[in-house]
Amino acid sequence: MNSNASNFGHRSWWRSAVIYQVYIRSFADGNGDGIGDIAGLRARLPYLAELGVDALWINPWYPSPMKDAGYDVSDFRAIEPLFGTLDDAREMIAEAHELGLRILLDIVPNHLSDQHAWFQAALAAGPGSRERARFIFRDGRGPGGDEPPNDWLSNFGGPAWTRVSDGNGKPGEWYLHLFTPEQPDVDWTNPEVREEFDQTMRFWFDMGVDGFRIDVAHGLAKAEGLPDIGSTAWPPVSSERVDHPHWDRDEVHDIYRAWRALADDYEDPRVFVAEAWVHNPERLAMYVRDDELHTAFNFDFLLAPWLAEPMRDSIIASLEAHEGVGAPPTWVLCNHDTVREVSRYARPQGVRELRHLDDLLELPADFELGVKRARAAALLMLCLPGGAYVYQGEELGLAEVEDLPKELLQDPGWKQSGYTLRGRDGCRVPIPWSGQEPPFGFTLNGATAAPWLPQPLSWRALTVQAQTGDQRSMLELYRRALRLRHEHPALGDGAMRWIDAPEGALAFARDPGFVCVVNMSAAHAPGPPGAELLFSSGELAGDGGVPADTTAWFSTP
Ligand code: NOJ
Ligand code: CA
Repeated sequence: MNSNASNFGHRSWWRSAVIYQVYIRSFADGNGDGIGDIAGLRARLPYLAELGVDALWINPWYPSPMKDAGYDVSDFRAIEPLFGTLDDAREMIAEAHELGLRILLDIVPNHLSDQHAWFQAALAAGPGSRERARFIFRDGRGPGGDEPPNDWLSNFGGPAWTRVSDGNGKPGEWYLHLFTPEQPDVDWTNPEVREEFDQTMRFWFDMGVDGFRIDVAHGLAKAEGLPDIGSTAWPPVSSERVDHPHWDRDEVHDIYRAWRALADDYEDPRVFVAEAWVHNPERLAMYVRDDELHTAFNFDFLLAPWLAEPMRDSIIASLEAHEGVGAPPTWVLCNHDTVREVSRYARPQGVRELRHLDDLLELPADFELGVKRARAAALLMLCLPGGAYVYQGEELGLAEVEDLPKELLQDPGWKQSGYTLRGRDGCRVPIPWSGQEPPFGFTLNGATAAPWLPQPLSWRALTVQAQTGDQRSMLELYRRALRLRHEHPALGDGAMRWIDAPEGALAFARDPGFVCVVNMSAAHAPGPPGAELLFSSGELAGDGGVPADTTAWFSTP
């Protein structure tokens, strides 16, 4: 039983929650078609409760043509048949709650699938219609309107506009899509759009869902008149705010104030976490002001290189910005869009992103070091003030699968980049549970189809089964850390203070009686005088010191 189950009724549970990200198509496959589903998740709920997390965030599970792995939603109030049924969802939610696990879903408010009834109606209804006013349709520029209405680009490459035919077979208006052409953006200045999403949220909240992760939370508002971006860089070169026509505009906050009111209407308040890629911690903190969202992912922490100074700076900046608005910070090391941290940390310390060119993958890599750092980072993340996220497989120490055959790549970015960016499939490979060969227990009731992406053979050493009981394994590190996090009064929400540390190391204390030392340098760092070692991410020297690239947790007198 989850050690936190007793806290289930706690209204502020989210201030210190560890939330496990379930990328459903790669978590566990209950029916043997090679794709993860709700039946698989249900069967594995006891594993998650035992791991010691507080809640699950489930990536989109709604009906979808899967042009962007479910982020192209064609019906927000139903379940994709590949994943199961609404009844399965209902039962899974009830079972999770019984185990002390809260459930967060993923809401995708910036865009719909082009197969959604609204977009189909918009195409049929033509220019000037109420149906088109739910989206962002415009005339093109230049002779014959042949050029897109402005210079905006799709996140996956190419123009952010696609032209439709006018109904008589002639070229007509263009519609905006910040992601794939199959993901038309909706217009958040239209009250019908607001009402529709309110109803969707109520639908799931009424079913017992505890909250939502908000996709592209920084993208919903577009500048009036849809001006060209011109040379406005994003992400920005400096940490100053730039007035970007579609990212992180002040107008989005009005939407979240209304959502907060809706969530607070429930007796057991429902919560939000924002996916907002913004300039700096101050801009992020605006999303979690008192009357807005509860929490937001801390991508600055995710992107910080494994070096003491930038890591400390990033932590300080996050803490200060969140303190200013009274919200708890969160900490995250990877997700289904980013390179797994074992692979990032295996590279030279400055490397943040690996997907952009195959060349980068050629950089020398030391995976043993990557794992050591990932262990240290996990303990660091789990004892900082606030909440944390664990992406499925992170607790197993999985690395990015870097050599997926190109013909199997499914991320839309691969095609839309003209086959230059490999995309995100390498962190989305179905996770290994047991056994000596693929599908490594991913398929529960006898495999009939191979997992939708192939698993490396080397994962036989990293299955849940192989790691269970091995006290040196990543899985047991996570289990012990999560247990201690729940038990120790100093951990979770609250304050921390820095204490002196040798160069290349970070050290901070949390009251009562807890010290964390992370050694990111090659030299041996001492532990605090008189402190007792609770446990460490590495093999410790007998004197209680902290070897390079490890974290140690100490209790102090
Ligand atoms: C962010 C999601 O995490 C990502 O997977 C998706 O492609 C985009 N938003 C578009 O919805
Ligand atoms: Ca399945």
